[in-house]
Amino acid sequence: MISVIVGCDNNWVIGNGPDIPWHLPADFAYFKKTTMGHPVVMGRTTFESIGKPLPGRLNIVVTRDETYQADNVLVVNSVEAGIEHAKHEAEQNENEDVFILGGAQIYTYALENNLVDRAYVTHIDTEVEGDILFPGDLIEQWVKTSSVRREKDEKNTYDMEFAVYEKQVVVDGKQLSQKVEDRLETRVEKLMDKPSLGIYVVGDDKATEMYVKKKREFAERIGVNFYEFIFESDVTEQELLDHISRHQGNVDGIVVQLPLPKHINQETVCNAIPEGKDPDMLHTETMKRFTEGDMGLLPPVTSAIDEIIDTYNLDVQNKKVLVIGKGKLVGGPAIAYFKNRGAHVDAVDKSNTDFTKLAQAADIIVSGAGVSDLVTSDMVHPGVILFDGGTSGSSGSLRGDIDWECQDKARLFSRSPGGIGPLTVASLFKNFITLVEKK
Ligand SMILES: NC(=O)c1ccc[n+]([C@@H]2O[C@H](COP(=O)([O-])OP(=O)(O)OC[C@H]3O[C@@H](n4cnc5c(N)ncnc54)[C@H](OP(=O)(O)O)[C@@H]3O)[C@@H](O)[C@H]2O)c1
Repeated sequence: MISVIVGCDNNWVIGNGPDIPWHLPADFAYFKKTTMGHPVVMGRTTFESIGKPLPGRLNIVVTRDETYQADNVLVVNSVEAGIEHAKHEAEQNENEDVFILGGAQIYTYALENNLVDRAYVTHIDTEVEGDILFPGDLIEQWVKTSSVRREKDEKNTYDMEFAVYEKQVVVDGKQLSQKVEDRLETRVEKLMDKPSLGIYVVGDDKATEMYVKKKREFAERIGVNFYEFIFESDVTEQELLDHISRHQGNVDGIVVQLPLPKHINQETVCNAIPEGKDPDMLHTETMKRFTEGDMGLLPPVTSAIDEIIDTYNLDVQNKKVLVIGKGKLVGGPAIAYFKNRGAHVDAVDKSNTDFTKLAQAADIIVSGAGVSDLVTSDMVHPGVILFDGGTSGSSGSLRGDIDWECQDKARLFSRSPGGIGPLTVASLFKNFITLVEKK
C-alpha cells in the first residue's frame, strides 16, 4: 500500500519556503507512530529542510541531480524509482506500507500519476501564511475512511483532525478480464495439445444463450476447442448422464450451464463431471474440499473476487464481511472463501431480510441475491468494499443487488453488471487451464 502523509491547514498550506509553519508535538507523534519501521520517500527539498535522515526508516530522497549525495539515505532520480525501492524494502520486511512524505512536488507527481492508494491527512484547524500547497483537489473524490479529532492544548495550539482517505475504485471487470485473458493465452500456447472444453446446454433460454456465447468467444480467443452439447428442454436426466459418461473421455473439461430445467436434478448431473475436469467446481466433493479450506482452485465467482482483491491489495484478514444470499454460485462460495482467508463472516438469506445493522458494520459486502437495489447507500459506511454478484431484470436492463449510488461511499465497488461478471468467465477458463496443466 502506497500512502502519502501530510499535515495541512484549512487552505491546504503545508509549507512556507523551506519550513513547516507550525510546531505541533501531537502531529509529530502521530507521524512518527504511523511511519516508523516503514520506508519513506521524499523530495530533495523536504529532506534538506528536515536536515537529517529520519531514524528507524529507510529514507529515500528523490532528486533529478544524478551527482547528489547524502549520508545514510538512498538517492534516486525519479519518484517511480523511489517507490519501487521502497516497495522492495517493505516486502523484505514483510510489511507492505510505504510512505511518501512530500513535499508538494512529490505529492503532486505521485497523485497525478496514480501511484498512491491512501492519504493520511492531518487537518490543522487554522489558516497560516505559506506558499507551498498540498494538491487537495487530487484527493477530493476519495473516501474518508477514518477520522480522529484532537482538541488544542497548551503544547498544541490548534485543533486537529487525523483523517485517512482511500482512493475510490470502480472495478472495470472487462479490463481485468483482459489481463487474465492475456495471461491465459500465453499458458495455452505452452500446452502440447489444444485443450477441449465441452459445455452442456439445455433449453433455449435467452440469458443462457448469452452466457454460452461469452464462453465460446473467450475460448476462441485464447485457443481452446469449445464443444457445445445442446439438448431440448424435455431431455431426461438419464439422457444427460449417459451423454456425459460417453463423451467425458473426449474433452479436458466439462461445464454444465445452469440452471437446468426443474425435472432434472442439478446436483446429480454436476456430480457426473469427473474430478479433474470440473472447472466450475460444481461437483459436491470439489466444493466440499474448497469449503474445508483447500484454496488450490476457486469457484469462478470467488476467483473473480480474489482477482480483484489481489489487484487492489485489499486486506481481508479479520475484516467484517457480510454475504447476502447463500446460493451455490455466489453466496455459498463467498462465505467459504472469506472464512478461509481469516475474515469474520456473517451471512443472510431470504429468511433474514432486515440486515441493515450488519451491512452498516461490514467492511466488505458481497451480494448474490438477484434482487435489485437490495443494498442502498444509507445501509453502508464510508470506505466499504462492495462486490455485487447479483443480477436481475432482462438483458437490456440488467441490474445488480447493490444500488450504484453506493459508489459515493465505497472505497471499492465491483458493480453489477460490469464487475464480477466478465471476470467470472475468465476465471472459469483460468481453472480449466490449471486443470489441463495438472494432467
Ligand atoms: N506539512 C507537511 O506535512 C509537509 C511535508 C513535507 C514537506 N513539507 C514542506 O514542503 C516544502 C517542500 O516541498 P517542495 O514541493 O518545495 O519540494 P519537494 O517536493 O520536497 O522536493 C522538490 C525536489 O524534489 C525533486 N523532484 C521533484 N519532482 C521530481 C521528479 N518527478 N523526479 C525527480 N526528482 C524530483 C527535485 O529535486 P532537485 O531539485 O534536487 O532535482 C525537486 O527540486 C517545504 O516547505 C516542506 O517543509 C510539508
